Amino acid sequence: MADTLVKVENLSKNFDKLVVLHDVSVEVTRGENLVVFGKSGSGKSVLLKCIIGLMKPDSGTIYINSKNVLSLSLKELNEVRKNIGFLFQGAALYDSMTVRENLEFPLKRHFTEMTPSQIEEKVKYTLDLVSLEEAIDKMPSELSGGMKKRIGLARSIITDPALMLYDEPTTGLDPITTKEISELILNLQKKLNMTSIVVTHDLICAEIIADRAIFLRDAVVAFEGDIKELTKSDDPFLKNFFSHEIIKV
Ligand SMILES: Nc1ncnc2c1ncn2[C@@H]1O[C@H](COP(=O)(O)OP(=O)(O)OP(=O)(O)O)[C@@H](O)[C@H]1O
Ligand SMILES: [Mg+2]
Repeated sequence: MADTLVKVENLSKNFDKLVVLHDVSVEVTRGENLVVFGKSGSGKSVLLKCIIGLMKPDSGTIYINSKNVLSLSLKELNEVRKNIGFLFQGAALYDSMTVRENLEFPLKRHFTEMTPSQIEEKVKYTLDLVSLEEAIDKMPSELSGGMKKRIGLARSIITDPALMLYDEPTTGLDPITTKEISELILNLQKKLNMTSIVVTHDLICAEIIADRAIFLRDAVVAFEGDIKELTKSDDPFLKNFFSHEIIKV
């Protein structure tokens, strides 16, 4: 347990009659990058939302850093959340704010004790990590899709989270930008010593980032293991999934 940062046990979630997750158990070791695959609608985003506490499962337990997050008070949960970064699916920047203001936002919210100069320093340091220092006073509308992703990434790591949850971080990007963003995610993870759970459809992204992958299908973890093994599997479902994904990217 000492090395386990996230432990999901027998998680179930239904929406009326729709069984989205059934008895799903997943563990993520500190420092590990876990990729979550699954067809559209297989419950990947629901799993992430349960982990971060945005959605309540019907049953099961979730431990983060050995804390049972489902039994915490709101105050305690907020403390745990401070340590989690979440890059939402299609994460949008605040359009009416500059890049600087977008990055200041999570700091002002979570670290009320920081001084303006500390905030400025942290914003600049984090922009440097994603190689976009020059964008500091730009508006989101002036940025390309790939730049927006990088700024979104900067915004979600600026609080130094121990755990990062990514929901489709490369959707809508061309293959070269996908590779760049995925490598950036991997480098940041190594540099900042983070643990990550990455939901993706994208094989380029998964192959760059993943230490291990799980596959959600029919509400359960249908496959788990090394990505290379999964992509080479003779299982007809996996063969079909990966051949389509390869064509797509
Ligand atoms: N708040 C909600 N209310 C009702 N149904 C929901 C809700 N959130 C998700 N669902 C349903 O749960 C199922 C799983 O949704 P989820 O968003 O986790 O899919 P996903 O695997 O992330 O798909 P995608 O790859 O398209 O993002 C879907 O059928 C969805 O319609
Ligand atoms: Mg989703």
